[in-house]
Amino acid sequence: MLPRTHCGDFSSMHIGQQVRLNGWVQTNRDHGGVIFLDVRDRSGLVQVVAHPDTPDMHKLAHSMRQQDVIEVVGEVIPRSEETINPKLPTGEIEVKISRINVLNRAETPPFMVEDDCDTSEQIRLEYRYLDLRRPKMQAYMELRHRVTHAARNYLDSQNFLEIETPILNKSTPEGARDYLVPSRVYPGSFYALPQSPQIFKQLLMVAGMDRYFQIARCFRDEDLRADRQPEFTQVDLELSFVNQEDVMAVAEGLLRAMFDAGVGIHLPESFPRITYAEAMDKYGLDRPDVRFGLELVNITELMKRVEFKVFREPAEKGGLVKVLRVPGGASALTRKQIDDYTKFVSIYGARGLAWIKVNDKDDLPGGLQSPIVKFLPEDVLRDMLAATEAENGDLLFFGAGDATVVNDALGHLRVKLGHDLNLIAEGDHRFVWVVDFPMFAWNEDEKRPEALHHPFTAPYDEDLDKFETDPLNMRSQAYDLVWNGTEIGGGSIRIHNPETQARVFRTLNISDEEAEAKFGFLLKALTYGAPPHGGLAFGLDRVLSLMVDVDSIRDVIAFPKTQKAADPMSEAPGEVADEQWKELGLRKRRMIQAND
Ligand code: AMO
Ligand code: AMP
Repeated sequence: MLPRTHCGDFSSMHIGQQVRLNGWVQTNRDHGGVIFLDVRDRSGLVQVVAHPDTPDMHKLAHSMRQQDVIEVVGEVIPRSEETINPKLPTGEIEVKISRINVLNRAETPPFMVEDDCDTSEQIRLEYRYLDLRRPKMQAYMELRHRVTHAARNYLDSQNFLEIETPILNKSTPEGARDYLVPSRVYPGSFYALPQSPQIFKQLLMVAGMDRYFQIARCFRDEDLRADRQPEFTQVDLELSFVNQEDVMAVAEGLLRAMFDAGVGIHLPESFPRITYAEAMDKYGLDRPDVRFGLELVNITELMKRVEFKVFREPAEKGGLVKVLRVPGGASALTRKQIDDYTKFVSIYGARGLAWIKVNDKDDLPGGLQSPIVKFLPEDVLRDMLAATEAENGDLLFFGAGDATVVNDALGHLRVKLGHDLNLIAEGDHRFVWVVDFPMFAWNEDEKRPEALHHPFTAPYDEDLDKFETDPLNMRSQAYDLVWNGTEIGGGSIRIHNPETQARVFRTLNISDEEAEAKFGFLLKALTYGAPPHGGLAFGLDRVLSLMVDVDSIRDVIAFPKTQKAADPMSEAPGEVADEQWKELGLRKRRMIQAND
């Protein structure tokens, strides 16, 4: 039998050869007796033709419907000059059919299996096997394969061992809700699916594995968004005897290898670093999009001098007053747009969005157009214009209030303005490391500090004495990598000393007993010669979705879940048989509403 030639591999080099190909019928056109079939497999598409002079094959070709599966044997012939298709890699040739085998017939698909199909995502997911047959989706899966492969190769070249860690675990506290699996053997007990392999990779360091990695599936039962899935994949790594810079260097090399292989983009040797404090100050967010300016200016001190309560109160009571200067915004933005932006910041809890149009900065206050200028004395206005480096024609937006709200509101407004005002150059990509995160953040609901990264993250040595006195001002050796405003990875140097680990738990208000019950095994392991270690994890799905610039990470996952954590194809999650309930020692009760 002839070897198979893949549909996309044909070229004029094959002219005159007898070939065999397999694939799916994409289209069937009858051109005055000559039948043209487009046949596609993963490699691409080729045109095959049946002439009336082979009546049996011609009849069979005529009966072909889209997505039928066929085998074609025939001769590669050049296309006539006027039918050459320069857009198609195989566009110079066609295959003259001498035999067709129908391998399988297909029902009419619920949508056209081609790139520009406008079917709802629900239907695409219900028929994911057809959706994945589209060239674009096949390219995404190929990209995923290439990038993962490159990650493996790179880490192998750097002496990492790929080691699998368990999926059925005890729960680890990483912030999100756990997915639980009931145990049959221990009725009433549950396994938790891993939110990440965090504890196990640390135990591997204690075990002397030195360098570990895993393309790890993680599970988090959290509210889903476009860039979150309930199960997702991390490129996860951990190294012994390293500091923060060592981990970041490996991560940069890894990302470079992934980019080279995935999209042929050569990333710089290393990425700039910015502290968490600076990111919050200038950008309002801990994942700054640094492709454009619009940096925030803090005028809190200045506002202690004014009567205007909206500004003075937050300034005096530990809040913030910040300005976002929009160059040229005075004429570029209409009142309606300003009103829309005011509505936008309210999503983040802002109670208003004061503004000033700078028409003539040398004519105070008359040169300033704004509902609030009358509340601000002239000398303050002058200092404020100087602090913000305002020019005539600029628009200033003001956020005042609680620090979190002001940063969140102006931070998101800044990103929105960057897009709305087209300040982002086409094809510009910026990576930035955010470093020196605080160890803890205040959890207002539970009235206690919580770990900002996770509770295994090491503080800086010089901050160790703040555990008991000023934990909220402790900095951690944690770092996030941010790409165009999206966090694509994060990690930290870990605590390798059991006493420091115990102090973290105490600060988090986790009692010694609770810590012992939950992580006794880790604490014990730390007493048996744990090396200094640290690591990081990239969100593979996020990296891929940004590489190909798709709106949702679902597009780069073969079988993703919907925003409601369901699979429309298999209809997971689903009911289980009464027998299974019984075996698990569980009894059905009235279904409790999630918010009961
Ligand atoms: P972290 O929780 O920051 O760190 O996760 C690392 C990266 O995983 C990606 N990610 C997600 N991707 C898709 N859907 C989700 N629901 C989701 N959640 C997170 C993000 C994120 O940057 N164990 C630590 C890593 C370490 O310290 O080494 C961890 O899991 O891109
Ligand atoms: P008010 O005195 O509440 O009418 O507000 C006067 C101006 O200040 C309006 O433009 C409001 O949008 C704005 N404003 C009110 N509260 C805030 C706030 N917390 N931050 C920024 N601007 C505010």
